[in-house]
Amino acid sequence: MPDKNQNQNGESSIREHYADFYAERNFVKVYPVEFVVRTLLGTYPQLKLDRRTFAGGKALDLGFGDGRNMPLLDDLGFKVHGVEISEDICHLTRARMEKLGVAAELAVGSNSQIPYPDQSFDLVLACHSCYYVLPGQTFDDNLCEITRILRAGGRFIFSLAKTDSYILSDAENLGKGLYRITHDPYRLRNGGLFRAFGSKEEIVDELGESFSDFALGLCENDYYGIYEKVWIGTCLKK
Ligand SMILES: C[S@@+](CC[C@H](N)C(=O)[O-])C[C@H]1O[C@@H](n2cnc3c(N)ncnc32)[C@H](O)[C@@H]1O
Repeated sequence: MPDKNQNQNGESSIREHYADFYAERNFVKVYPVEFVVRTLLGTYPQLKLDRRTFAGGKALDLGFGDGRNMPLLDDLGFKVHGVEISEDICHLTRARMEKLGVAAELAVGSNSQIPYPDQSFDLVLACHSCYYVLPGQTFDDNLCEITRILRAGGRFIFSLAKTDSYILSDAENLGKGLYRITHDPYRLRNGGLFRAFGSKEEIVDELGESFSDFALGLCENDYYGIYEKVWIGTCLKK
């Protein structure tokens, strides 16, 4: 019997599985991701952020999930917006943000189709999300769309899968850094397409046409047997 999570067209199954996942783990309080906290609040030799520009700016949390990074964006003074792939996810997170007193405008879209006009945002945060590529598309489609909705000089904060991260284990290599996920231990993303990167240089090569002022890092974690390896970074739209 085929695995119901194995879907050559991973798009619809990812949407359903994530909606179910967030519905099952529907706590009111949420806690931000460590690299997001470190990037937005921390002091590091290679990270130069002008935090005075945050208050009053418009931030887009792309692929926001349960919205765990939104209270932090709100605390920093951003007007918070978010895009997710299903109305079910938007509905759950909208309710959560209302309970938490975080004003957030949430809409359905995707990495390659963000329902906002050109140059709408001062900041785009894509925490473990911008590397999801829809069938028939490329990571470049995601980048073009992120570039389109950021203002010139706007900041992009992102994480990107590293090619030897657990999620790429036994993935089908489709070439040009694109992989089809086949062995997701969480059974959420099988069949989905990921753009993964082997080095910081590859990231700058891919993003450098539209972005400058890169600060890049690497998080390597062993979460009790899940060997998660993600590039983290921030840059400015040219
Ligand atoms: C690993 S979760 C991260 C969620 C959230 N950013 C966080 O840090 O908790 C990945 C998220 O990306 C969303 N996603 C999947 N495919 C996407 C796409 N093509 N465009 C935008 N978001 C997508 C999923 O629904 C999911 O919520």
